Amino acid sequence: MSEQMEFDTDGRAYGRALAEFDEKLVHSGPGTPGGELLRRYWQPVARSNEVSDLPVAVTILDENLIVFRDRSGNPGLVYPRCMHRGTSLIYGKIEPNGIRCPYHGWLFDTQGRCLEMPCEPDNKLRHKIRQPWYPVIEKYGLIFTYMGPADKQPLFPVISLFEELADDEEIVVGGGSQQPAGQQALFAGYQDFNWWNFYDNFMDPFHVYVLHSTINGSQFVESLKILPKVQTEYTADGVRTIQHRYLKSGQVHQRLSQTIMPNINCTAAVGDELGPAGISWTVAATDTSYRFFTLNRVKKGVDLASNLQKLGILQPGWGPGKPFDEWNLEDHQRWQTDYVAQKGQGDINLHSEEHLMPMDKATAMLRRLFKKQADRVARGEDPVGLGFKEPYHLKVMAGNAMLDGETLECVDGYDGREL
Ligand code: FES
Ligand SMILES: [Fe+2]
Repeated sequence: MSEQMEFDTDGRAYGRALAEFDEKLVHSGPGTPGGELLRRYWQPVARSNEVSDLPVAVTILDENLIVFRDRSGNPGLVYPRCMHRGTSLIYGKIEPNGIRCPYHGWLFDTQGRCLEMPCEPDNKLRHKIRQPWYPVIEKYGLIFTYMGPADKQPLFPVISLFEELADDEEIVVGGGSQQPAGQQALFAGYQDFNWWNFYDNFMDPFHVYVLHSTINGSQFVESLKILPKVQTEYTADGVRTIQHRYLKSGQVHQRLSQTIMPNINCTAAVGDELGPAGISWTVAATDTSYRFFTLNRVKKGVDLASNLQKLGILQPGWGPGKPFDEWNLEDHQRWQTDYVAQKGQGDINLHSEEHLMPMDKATAMLRRLFKKQADRVARGEDPVGLGFKEPYHLKVMAGNAMLDGETLECVDGYDGREL
């Protein structure tokens, strides 16, 4: 055998191991470890402004459901198949007290109680019947649901970012139409790959240096071209990265990004003009789709979309100069975005083929923490970050800061313990 042959044989694709994904991360349906963990927390299921006078079909945590708003304004979330004979309530009539199945007219309120059976008005069985439903809470322009066991339902958390709003500040819903044109496809509606391809990314400070900055020009602000020094830590309920960029001026730009169990991220605005940070939920729809909901604290009247555009997400002149959903393969090959980086991992990433490096520490910690919490739930224990007598306090730490000097203390003490 020649030297060349030996070289060629090493690492050839032929005979490689079958690739697998990590089931604990990927699956979100009922009865799966990750799905049961996700079900223990309030999850956004729709934006308030999506739900008006018609029922809306949603997919969340591998369940198909119907979200509606009765004519009194109360949101409801129910299993779609009418419990009488299965007609979909997507065709239901919205009434002052609920939703009426069009087939035989059973009327269900927002908690699935059957209020009327028009063909058998005196049938007492009506009181025993319940269309399967989930509780919902409407807050900050989002409709949240709790899809877990009734005796484990937590109080809705207090979100520190939204406490003590100044008179000139407000909370706005991101996602959908509020994203700048170039990002519409990234945030509107359902995205077409597994939620972890996306969620991993929030604990990946290094890709900003390559994907968004140096591979083919800055998509965001210029300062992100500096390779950061990164410190990664567990917090009380998640993982955070503290990124330091050493500027020519001698100052240090600190950027803190944070994930909170099980599917929240808080990311500092790319520029400080936008406010401190936003809080977002990456919500699995199916194994190969998810939705992203985000809330930002901003100065009143700020047009978030144009502000983001102004800040250069994406920078004017960056990209092929057409709406994102019209980009073809060549456009994506010349102008790489988060979308191709994540969709390029496949509809579901194949974790057994990865080679995680020190730069992937935060991502690895996040996955590990998530799986540990899923194990806790499987053992009958409570995962982190839930409040039953008092609401849990979700502490948003993400933000930007300009620091002086070489030795840097990071904001917010932590004990570094593993959860
Ligand atoms: S199928 Fe819905 S009322 Fe009969
Ligand atoms: Fe990114």
